[in-house]
Amino acid sequence: MPGEFAGKVAFVTGAAHGQGRATAIALAREGARIAAFDVARPLGYPGYAMGSRDDLESLATACKELGSDCLTFAGDVRQDADVTVAVERTVERFGRVDILFNNAGICAYGLAHELTEEAWDAMLDINLKGAWLVARRVIPVMIRQGSGVIINNSSVAGLRGMGQLSHYAASKWGLTGLTKSWAIELAPHGIRVNSIHPTGVNTPMNDGLAELEGLTTREIAERSAGNLLPVPWIEPEDVAAGVLFLASDRARYVTGAPLVLDAGLLTR
Ligand SMILES: NC(=O)c1ccc[n+]([C@@H]2O[C@H](COP(=O)([O-])OP(=O)(O)OC[C@H]3O[C@@H](n4cnc5c(N)ncnc54)[C@H](O)[C@@H]3O)[C@@H](O)[C@H]2O)c1
Repeated sequence: MPGEFAGKVAFVTGAAHGQGRATAIALAREGARIAAFDVARPLGYPGYAMGSRDDLESLATACKELGSDCLTFAGDVRQDADVTVAVERTVERFGRVDILFNNAGICAYGLAHELTEEAWDAMLDINLKGAWLVARRVIPVMIRQGSGVIINNSSVAGLRGMGQLSHYAASKWGLTGLTKSWAIELAPHGIRVNSIHPTGVNTPMNDGLAELEGLTTREIAERSAGNLLPVPWIEPEDVAAGVLFLASDRARYVTGAPLVLDAGLLTR
């Protein structure tokens, strides 16, 4: 099928809803085949709704309607066995992995001195260690190909401090460090690695955080406000547009770079 990503294969984590889903659909629309990986079950922490198996199935249907092919995997980025099986099956079916979007993540508020160790570990294990667990299975495939693009979904919290979000910010700054270090390691293999840094995005994550805090989604957006442009949040499709740019040959010499999608927030 025609399209900028015809013949390419994208492995997307956290694909069931939110930014992962929007990006998977945008890639499928441009001809990419999709491996959609998501925990697809409730998690005790942070306690808001994760994606579901139904979400994964409806994503697969949407991709097929776009003329693409989509494999779905219910698995946890913290579990090497889940990740390994998913990457192996993707390569068996599609033969390659051209794009890895490390997107699965959670968020929750909490003052540093009140966080439990469980909260700290869940945040760091999903947002940071999970990205590495997935990448370490995908990177050998990309090295064999001599090409590939990895995009890590960090946050504005990966470039600034944020009160009540220190464990989240630590995980996202960690992703910024992984991005730059992997860019150095992998450039000789023709693999580019970049990070994106969205401001608040209109996804189920923000609805879930609002519910946990007893606020409206708009109030949650205002809590970490500071967008210069007069919008409370950006849309998942805005994130997808940034990811597609980085994944494309239009960005062929972009590596180790943070793409800030912040409606001007970090300018102040
Ligand atoms: N929403 C925002 O305001 C915002 C802003 C900046 C960055 N981000 C980051 O963007 C990414 C996507 O967030 P979103 O807004 O789409 O959130 P979301 O909660 O709407 O979607 C996240 C998806 O990740 C999945 N997931 C969570 N834990 C997982 C695990 N352990 N293994 C596999 N899948 C798992 C969930 O099931 C869900 O489908 C996250 O890394 C988030 O930190 C979000």
